[in-house]
Amino acid sequence: MASPNALDFLLNSIEKTWHIVGVRSTPLALLTTSLALLLPIISLYILALSQREQPIPPPAGCRKLNKSGASNLSDQFAKKYGHGGTPSASNAWIVKALMVYPLKSCGGVELDEAEVGHSGLKYDRQFTFAQQVTSLPTLEGKVKSEWTIITLRQFPRLAKVEVEMWVPDPEAPGYDKDGEWVKSDGCIVARFPFSPDTGLSVAGIKNYGKILAAKLGGKSEPMVEFRIPYHPSKDTTKAKGYKKELVKIFGDIPVALNMGCELPDDTVDKLKYTLGVSNPLTIFRIDPDSPRPVLQNAPKKEDVGFQTAIGMQDAHPVQIQNLASIHDVSSRVPARFRPLNALRYRPNIVFTGPPAFEEDSWKKARFGSLTLDISCRTTRCKLPNVDPLTGIADRNEPATTMRKYRVVDQGSKAACLGMQVTPLDEGILSVGEKIEILATGEHHFIE
Ligand SMILES: *[C@@H]1O[C@H](CO)[C@@H](O)[C@H](O)[C@H]1NC(C)=O
Ligand SMILES: *[C@@H]1O[C@H](CO)[C@@H](O)[C@H](O)[C@H]1NC(C)=O
Repeated sequence: MASPNALDFLLNSIEKTWHIVGVRSTPLALLTTSLALLLPIISLYILALSQREQPIPPPAGCRKLNKSGASNLSDQFAKKYGHGGTPSASNAWIVKALMVYPLKSCGGVELDEAEVGHSGLKYDRQFTFAQQVTSLPTLEGKVKSEWTIITLRQFPRLAKVEVEMWVPDPEAPGYDKDGEWVKSDGCIVARFPFSPDTGLSVAGIKNYGKILAAKLGGKSEPMVEFRIPYHPSKDTTKAKGYKKELVKIFGDIPVALNMGCELPDDTVDKLKYTLGVSNPLTIFRIDPDSPRPVLQNAPKKEDVGFQTAIGMQDAHPVQIQNLASIHDVSSRVPARFRPLNALRYRPNIVFTGPPAFEEDSWKKARFGSLTLDISCRTTRCKLPNVDPLTGIADRNEPATTMRKYRVVDQGSKAACLGMQVTPLDEGILSVGEKIEILATGEHHFIE
């Protein structure tokens, strides 16, 4: 509340301020002038407030999957993680961080503990965006159009798509066992930046207000949100008309669920603009009834009792990274790329303790209570050239540096970093759990 003293103080201060710039008048006239000068700023503020997006209520009956407290990678650049050595009291070999990426090539979700199965971490890479690509004509003049996944490598702005995983929870507000999101086993909530057109029209000015509101809210651009049911039932699939269609993932063409009808047209247009996609764009979910079998570089069914199969991962169920190895690459790249963020390599499990590249010869390991088959090395394309924070891709680094010293697998011409893993057990893995190596040997990648 403005007491008379406060008002006096205000008028006094205004008078003094104007005095400094050489203007003298009655306090009231000066106050009016000041307000008039501030008017544009006040109007902009009101415009921003009026165009502030109302947050969409969270999916009813669900809670967000997240970790407690700060990211376990928040201290990833600390020097101590660059050394490694034999396991000891001062150098524990442990799981440092756990990540899942429900929507391939987009932002990840960090966890305190993960449910691990033979096909990977629960919620990891169940969805992918895909664009329709028409082939060149054959000699007979035939052309064919196929859904083909898009990745960060071609569309680095995918890094700017934030993803949340929401799961049913009887304690969550609005829980109802027949509720839309509860029945679909939760949903992914995705957000991407989109700045609408500004210009001298009513719509343009409102859009300007939206951009301003986003900036006042600490975002660089307004965000557009969409939601996709996580695991739709057969009934929902039928009712919504999701189609089973082929989608090309590198050399593999599985049948998957085209859930593009969940994306409003207007949202697809904005998403295409943000990503720089010009072809038709949709979102696929792996068909839980037909996961993709892994035939190369995976344990054999007759040895382990199950056929290794995956969702929308590149080629294997789980990818693990030694933080010391990333520090090593980081120490060799040109200074402006340092320090390299571990998330460039899109790991599921980041561990610390072993010296750099110790993992190159691991064949079998125990992480927490789970036995893992270390199936092969992770061969690298240029995807890690995308800065996960900015969505900007460098033409060369760190790929060029890695090619100089990390082409280490007899079976591949690619640089390698990290290992591909097939869990032999199913269960829970938590951050901080110990890792132990059960067998080492030679790896030979099969293309
Ligand atoms: C994580 O989830 C808990 C419980 O749902 C919530 O209270 C907390 O704010 C969330 N933390 C973050 C960083 O989102
Ligand atoms: C991971 O994060 C949790 C919560 O922020 C913290 O208590 C724990 O010490 C961290 N563990 C590691 C290995 O960084």
